[in-house]
Amino acid sequence: MNKILVTGGAGYIGSHTVVELAQAGYEPIIIDNFSNSQESALGGIQAILGREVPCHRIDCGDLEALRQVFKAEGNIAGVIHFAAFKAVGESVQKPLAYFHNNVGSLITLLQVMQEEGVENLVFSSSCTVYGVPDHLPVTEATPTKPASSPYGRTKQMCEDIVHDAAGAPDNKVHTILLRYFNPIGAHASAKIGELPLGVPNNLVPFITQTAAGLREKLTIFGNDYDTPDGTNVRDYIYVVDLAKAHIVAVQRLLDRKASEAVETFNVGTGHGNSVLEMVTTFEQASGQKLNYVIGPRRVGDVPAIYADVTKSTEVLEFRTTTSLLDALASAWKWQEALSKK
Ligand code: WQD
Repeated sequence: MNKILVTGGAGYIGSHTVVELAQAGYEPIIIDNFSNSQESALGGIQAILGREVPCHRIDCGDLEALRQVFKAEGNIAGVIHFAAFKAVGESVQKPLAYFHNNVGSLITLLQVMQEEGVENLVFSSSCTVYGVPDHLPVTEATPTKPASSPYGRTKQMCEDIVHDAAGAPDNKVHTILLRYFNPIGAHASAKIGELPLGVPNNLVPFITQTAAGLREKLTIFGNDYDTPDGTNVRDYIYVVDLAKAHIVAVQRLLDRKASEAVETFNVGTGHGNSVLEMVTTFEQASGQKLNYVIGPRRVGDVPAIYADVTKSTEVLEFRTTTSLLDALASAWKWQEALSKK
């Protein structure tokens, strides 16, 4: 079995990807320092798979510790690098922590991969690299724009670092950059899902917590945008579909199908939905009426962005298969499971 190291493997997207890797016949190994994830995710993964997935509790930015993991595991076929802080608002408050963690851990990882001769990397990038796009939908050729937050800048810097490292004469690492749009939902088993720490920054966990009575109401951040109903538009992708995109990317690297040392793919549904559409679709999916108000705009929000998925469909041969309704139903099922804990 091909051994795949998953950094941030106890996190939201990481844990779903670990499950899909194992069920697709790979041997996932988790690395996580639990700075932004919870140990309970390991139990959820085990409950789904019926076996424990090994986990190294280290910080990816710790060069010596990471070297030890690579040497202890040996014959690693590839790495999927999720480990990063990802809250836009928080990054404005703690920019140095974001640069140190997000950029530092990638540099350390690339260094150890080079030393240990591990040649395949899937990197978790983000649609934030597009900034406020001039045209929609965005393709991989859409120019990136100055990001509106330190978080977005760390993702842009990481993409540049991957490209520059690939250009070095002694480079042996092949990378696929996956630009995520907005991951939502939870595994159908409701044993793993999104576990926001504190007040959720993201829309869907705030919706489900409001419906569960944990929050009084949802505040929709502005309805005066130049969009069909005035609220922001995003490309919401079911987290298990997103996880499956990583399996396809890993196998593409193992098969050496890539024509270049670095390939970039948008990973979204190719459709945009507004915040109000998310509310009405959630109400339909859950049978719960949602209490919401319209509030002021949130600084840094992009009015509208969604993916052109032509390249992912034609080159990566990946497409999403889950409807927004089903993705939101899974988010509600997960919230109900959390409420019972
Ligand atoms: C979605 C929409 C808000 C909360 C961020 C990162 C992105 C990715 C996903 C990591 C926006 C509106 C939200 C609320 C609201 N992260 N909203 N009330 O900002 O599109 O993307 O998270 O990969 O990189 O930038 O996601 O879920 O925060 O917001 O009205 O209480 O919901 O204004 O339009 P966002 P989000």
